[in-house]
Amino acid sequence: VKVILNDKIIDRSEAAIDIEDRGYQFGDGVYEVIRVYDGVLFTGDEHLERFYSSADKIKITVPFQKEELLELMNQLIQVNDVHDGSIYMQLTRGASPRNHVFPSADTKPVLTAYTKEVARPVESLENGVAAMVADDIRWLRCDIKSLNLLPNLLAKQAATEQGCYEAILHRNGLVTEGSASNAYIVVDGKIKTHPATNLILNGITRQVVARLCKENNIPFSEEAFTLEELRNADEIFVTSTTSEVMPVVKLDEREIGNGKPGQVTRKLQTLFVEEFE
Ligand code: PDD
Repeated sequence: VKVILNDKIIDRSEAAIDIEDRGYQFGDGVYEVIRVYDGVLFTGDEHLERFYSSADKIKITVPFQKEELLELMNQLIQVNDVHDGSIYMQLTRGASPRNHVFPSADTKPVLTAYTKEVARPVESLENGVAAMVADDIRWLRCDIKSLNLLPNLLAKQAATEQGCYEAILHRNGLVTEGSASNAYIVVDGKIKTHPATNLILNGITRQVVARLCKENNIPFSEEAFTLEELRNADEIFVTSTTSEVMPVVKLDEREIGNGKPGQVTRKLQTLFVEEFE
């Protein structure tokens, strides 16, 4: 199986990262996860756009043109013969003697990427999943898709230990997003989700959902909502590259709606699948 290390496609067993790579030591880097459906990158341009934007926000210059990077990713998908899966890519500030201060300008950022085969979570998409509520203890730049994911991991682990698929996070009673997804409620047919500020990652799936709502006259409002609104919502769903449009049918042991995916969520699932099928 092949991977990308900087500008080369090599055997995974040949790939070596310095123990003082700043991604490894500090989480000093950014990443993207892009879905592959039927051998084709889904919303690849949008993900790459965000990759450059995340890198820029932490002052790392991506050492490739967008077209080159896209070409490299497509080559990897081909050589690994990915059908339905994903590509993970990350860029770190590179290897340099450990120091909180950025290394000198000649330090080369390190790009890595690998692919894997992943089936769509059809069973969960059909029946919905359980979620729990957790405190959002992250920093104030959640708009950056950075490698620093400890608070997200702690929330996801807590959710898993409670038999939940996702932790839905809140700051002082206002829902931000999931530990690895964006979060939405539906009340009286209207969708609400947190605005794309520094407090959330502006998901690519979120952007697709927003467009689909617009095109299909489904009321969609980027407006923060409270925990109380979440608990009393008619429907809840979360979105991400790997979860797509995922119905949440149970929240902290209480059923949402009638415990089945709601109508608006279903409609969005149908529209979403049409985007790549
Ligand atoms: N997570 N919010 C957070 C905190 C995320 O980590 C993600 C994605 C999203 C959804 O973004 P998108 O629709 O672009 O995937 C929102 C990825 C899948 C991950 O870390 O594996």
